[in-house]
Amino acid sequence: MRRVSLAIDNVNYDLVVDNRESLWETMNFQLGLANSNLGCDRAQCGACTVLVDGKAVNGCTVLSARLGRGQKIATVAGLPTGPGVAGLHPVQRAFWLDGGFQCGICTRGFIMSTVQLLGAIPKPTTAQIAEGLAGNICRCGEYAKIFTAVNTAAAELRGEKVTHLASPVIVGVAGTAEAAPGAAGVSKEFQFDKPMGTIEDYDPFEQALKKRDGILGVSGNERSVTVKWDPAKLDEAKVRAILVDLGHAAR
Ligand code: FES
Ligand code: FES
Repeated sequence: MRRVSLAIDNVNYDLVVDNRESLWETMNFQLGLANSNLGCDRAQCGACTVLVDGKAVNGCTVLSARLGRGQKIATVAGLPTGPGVAGLHPVQRAFWLDGGFQCGICTRGFIMSTVQLLGAIPKPTTAQIAEGLAGNICRCGEYAKIFTAVNTAAAELRGEKVTHLASPVIVGVAGTAEAAPGAAGVSKEFQFDKPMGTIEDYDPFEQALKKRDGILGVSGNERSVTVKWDPAKLDEAKVRAILVDLGHAAR
């Protein structure tokens, strides 16, 4: 065991970690920080990417015991500067409004790798984007829109005016879900009141939720679920009622 002080998104966390514990495990199991996703847990998919002193690393593989010497750990949760879409970091906004995601499992990792890439290369070529994001895999195959999002974010960071592909769904201030004009659906992340035992418990729940009328999309894990619904058929209260009905009340 080792006592460390982890500087995550400019907050210091003093704690004792097992020498074998990954940063992802410490963040999730000790600190309750769901700031990165776990995909492969073996340094192959990049879903868990965070920045350590500005460099993209796989949180599933880097050991927490080696990160207690003042290294600055940056996660996707530390990027926004204010509420709502306007408060998002340009890279986050571009992924959101250009649709550079589907299930979202890979997205936090892609965003952090993009932040690193654009910090080093403000106007990357397509080949440089491919190289910069080579450690991230999107199983949904959203690469075309991901590349669009990277280019849009790069332009915004260079101070240029940008137009996003579309804004089908907006999550408003303080997590209030609202539909944009012409919205195809409304999306919101819910945290389970009581986390499931393991990720394996999540799959049957997701399958059942997807079958409910008005549900357009579902993604999540044992701690939270992001639900996209048809506002013509459901509202947030009705979605919450469905979650309760399926045995997983959420806030
Ligand atoms: S979960 Fe870390 S690389 Fe896949
Ligand atoms: S959006 Fe990339 S894995 Fe689903």
